[in-house]
Amino acid sequence: MNTLSRLLQDNKSWSKKMMENEPDFFSKLLNVQHPEFLWIGCSDSRVPPDVITQTRPGEIFIHRNIANMVVHTDLNMLSVLQYAVEVLKVKHIIVCGHYGCGGVKAAMTNNSMGLINKWLRNIKDVYRYHQDEIEILKENDLKLNRLIELNVVEQVMNLAKTSIIQKSWIHEKGPHLHGWVYDLHDGIIRPQVHMPSAFIKTEFFI
Ligand code: CO
Repeated sequence: MNTLSRLLQDNKSWSKKMMENEPDFFSKLLNVQHPEFLWIGCSDSRVPPDVITQTRPGEIFIHRNIANMVVHTDLNMLSVLQYAVEVLKVKHIIVCGHYGCGGVKAAMTNNSMGLINKWLRNIKDVYRYHQDEIEILKENDLKLNRLIELNVVEQVMNLAKTSIIQKSWIHEKGPHLHGWVYDLHDGIIRPQVHMPSAFIKTEFFI
């Protein structure tokens, strides 16, 4: 059997198993979702949010892109954010990066990768803001890991400055923002930053 048909076959087995174990599993989720979390993560196939956090369907609202970026002109991300905050009223937003991120690694080189250069440009800016702290490190792996951690912190800052979060912090006293990094070596998530409600007040909303 080829791998594509395996996906459909495994899906059927999963559906059957869920129906047997929890007969109301699908009907409970049919018309409503109440996720407490919005996850903004990397598209990397080795970092599946629900698997590494052991969460079930209905528990996390998810947006993924290369290197878990929060870019203020990204209508896709902003639409997900607005829906998660204003309609679903999530309590926590997690930006989760991961060590060994290929997107961040590519941004540390000067190799041209076509269209993706424009996306990586945003990570290069993070590097520039923290250049002194990164370049003091001796090994390339340490530099990459530090940039991955700093990138997560910067993306949480970018979230905090959006009009969606600023308005919600004023009117709803939430959500909390978190920056995490997942370690591919041991599967452990290492928290980097926690920003509670109204941590940053911006003078103008982006
Ligand atoms: Co990645």
